[in-house]
Amino acid sequence: MIELSLAEVAELTGGELTGPAGAHVTGKVTLDSRTVAPGDLFVAVAGERVDGHDFLGAAAAAGAVAALAVRPDAALPTVVVDDPVVALGRLATGVHARLTAGGLLTLGITGSSGKTSTKDLLGQVLAAAGPTVSPPGSYNNDIGLPLTVLDADDSTRFLVLEMGARGPGHIARLCRIAPPRIGVVLNVGSAHLGEFGTPEGTARAKGELVEALPEDGTAVLNADDPRVLGMAPRTAARVLTTGRDPGADVRATDVSLDDSARAGFTLVASGEEHRVALQVTGEHQVANALSAAGAALAAGMSPADVAGALSTATARSRWRMEVDRRADGVLVVNDAYNANPESMRAALAALTGLPATRRVAVLGAMGELGPDAAAEHDRLGRDAAAAGVDLIVAVGPDAVGIAEGAAAAGHRAGEESVHVPDRAAARALLTEVLRPGDVVLVKASRAYGLELLAADLLTTGDGA
Ligand SMILES: Nc1ncnc2c1ncn2[C@@H]1O[C@H](COP(=O)(O)OP(=O)(O)O)[C@@H](O)[C@H]1O
Ligand SMILES: [Mg+2]
Repeated sequence: MIELSLAEVAELTGGELTGPAGAHVTGKVTLDSRTVAPGDLFVAVAGERVDGHDFLGAAAAAGAVAALAVRPDAALPTVVVDDPVVALGRLATGVHARLTAGGLLTLGITGSSGKTSTKDLLGQVLAAAGPTVSPPGSYNNDIGLPLTVLDADDSTRFLVLEMGARGPGHIARLCRIAPPRIGVVLNVGSAHLGEFGTPEGTARAKGELVEALPEDGTAVLNADDPRVLGMAPRTAARVLTTGRDPGADVRATDVSLDDSARAGFTLVASGEEHRVALQVTGEHQVANALSAAGAALAAGMSPADVAGALSTATARSRWRMEVDRRADGVLVVNDAYNANPESMRAALAALTGLPATRRVAVLGAMGELGPDAAAEHDRLGRDAAAAGVDLIVAVGPDAVGIAEGAAAAGHRAGEESVHVPDRAAARALLTEVLRPGDVVLVKASRAYGLELLAADLLTTGDGA
């Protein structure tokens, strides 16, 4: 973060400083007292399980210069505010405005699937052109986004922000915290349909990003998704389209997959063609790479530099198509960060594209699907069976529909399509049946914790 006096922190947040005004925040902003280092600003937030206000003393002991909190504390100078999360957003807004005046370029990414993957690709591409802030992980809400903004300083040239939509108006709010000049919309799928009701509702919410762009900005829209392309009239910015669609401004031709399910393609943009060999797994990454390319081109990079940087970019955030081979040769694909119908299909396509003697899909439920949940789990099971997955293991009570769907599509129940009650049962079954030459995909919504099962599977084959 840029250095700020406590008086400036109070001014930007609208809070009241208790304690000496002269001290300066020289470190970072953090909500976790365990990560506090000397010079940091500690933000006390009351969460579901713990209240940051109980850790003001710990933050002070670790060297925090001050805290943003709802009440003063004897342990350290405090900027007292009504709502520390709102204050954190205001602080980010103030700092962002200063950095933008100094030449910082801000890029926002939203969509139903692939935000983090695309942010990680774009962050690595832009880093080839200048200092870039784009932290690994999914810092895409009212807390994560301002924290990302506050990571930037005077030396930062590019700031890449992931924006998740938790209901109508949320993305508009995130855009007010840190107005982007380039906005990328990836896709509109069924993620969080429970919150938006219909895909049209989701499209309305995701499109708030392009509505927030200024006239001299660029909306990077996925031409292969009609609901995304349909956002073009909602922006004052220039529109740059990306996709396989022959009419897209930035497109991919001659897409190929190597035997590790990594895609290659020819990037066609600005009348130039450059071959790209992605290091990340799954054909769905082509769409993400094109969106990242569009944004990087809009930021002023050349097609050749973009293609080169895309070809060296690696997976930065965990549990997204993480591919590991265990000692006995079983390949484990850990895609357990989250799941919705589109990302399930993308992962199954990657699984069926991998060379293997047998393909195994260990699938947990997809959360937040609303009233369509039962039908979607049934359809997933059917599609997985039809795609040629040899063994489907559905894990947990909410996933039973996946096994039933697969059985309805012709998988022998209890043999090719198995339902197990929990992770431990899945582990026991898989320890029994996995053989060298098998490829195992592990995927579910995050709440089901299947990333731990994937980690377990990697160690079991070693005799560990
Ligand atoms: N463009 C895409 N289309 C469909 N699924 C995708 C796409 N990109 C990533 N995925 C899948 O979605 C899951 C979540 O990816 P991630 O990049 O974390 O997205 P988000 O940040 O939007 O949740 C991953 O498991 C991945 O397999
Ligand atoms: Mg994410």
